[in-house]
Amino acid sequence: MNNNNILFPVKVPYSTAPDIVKLKDDFKLTPISDRIRANKLKELDEFSSDLFNEIQSNNLIDCLNVINAKYNLPASTTILDLAMNVEEDIAVLNSGKVIAICFCSPSGFIPSHVVGKSFFEIHQPIPDSDLLLKMSDKLTSMMADSSRGCYRRFVWTITSNPSMSQHPSLKNKVIPKSINDLYFRTESQTTIPLGDNVNMLFSVKVEMNPLNSIWEDYEKRNGLISSIDSMSDAMLEYKNLKAIKSILNNSK
Ligand code: HEM
Repeated sequence: MNNNNILFPVKVPYSTAPDIVKLKDDFKLTPISDRIRANKLKELDEFSSDLFNEIQSNNLIDCLNVINAKYNLPASTTILDLAMNVEEDIAVLNSGKVIAICFCSPSGFIPSHVVGKSFFEIHQPIPDSDLLLKMSDKLTSMMADSSRGCYRRFVWTITSNPSMSQHPSLKNKVIPKSINDLYFRTESQTTIPLGDNVNMLFSVKVEMNPLNSIWEDYEKRNGLISSIDSMSDAMLEYKNLKAIKSILNNSK
């Protein structure tokens, strides 16, 4: 099976260090397709207000106007309206604090709960994240700095839940027995300064592929196993990868 188009940001050893890269090209939000709109509506129907929240203010309205103008999108006055116009999951941060979010395909957290929290507070529960936490202030001012532009980082995991959303209520719904029950999930995360050096847009695009589609590629298979083998117990627990680690190692 040709897996060359599948994003594969797996590194060995696994690290929570802030591995961000400055984007050379201009970033564009993607106008929503019928498929993604249907998926967002399905998730909103199931998880409703878990998925979005905002602190209403004139500053947020200004940010939404800047985003709509920048990407030539229809007018929107709430983060939910904006999210329904684009494929990405999106959040707005002000001085490093989340002031609005609409993530229809979250990883294992409840999006509405992070509103009002700082970058530091959001990342505090992550194991082995001392460096990330120490750099929180520096990273948040860097990401809002217009003279620096956009940054990109990638996230990956393996999960038995085939949906793009990994909402916590879906955790362990499927108990995986083999590689056939597993999916490779990636996120392309982009930070976009909004022009005033204070506010920034955070955009996330999720991709899901059956793990099978990369398992026959020995280089990728070995990379995955080595990266998971390098994770601490606390990280395996956090990412719900303990049972999956055994399945992978037994399927070498
Ligand atoms: C420089 C940019 C960023 C870096 C380096 C970073 C780093 C990380 C790392 C290392 C993790 C844990 C492991 C992983 O999933 O990779 C994580 C998780 C998380 N990050 Fe960030 N992050 C960044 C930006 C943001 C922003 C702007 C938000 C705002 C919403 C955010 C929200 C979260 C949340 C909610 C989690 C927990 C995910 C879960 O438990 O499933 N991150 N981040």
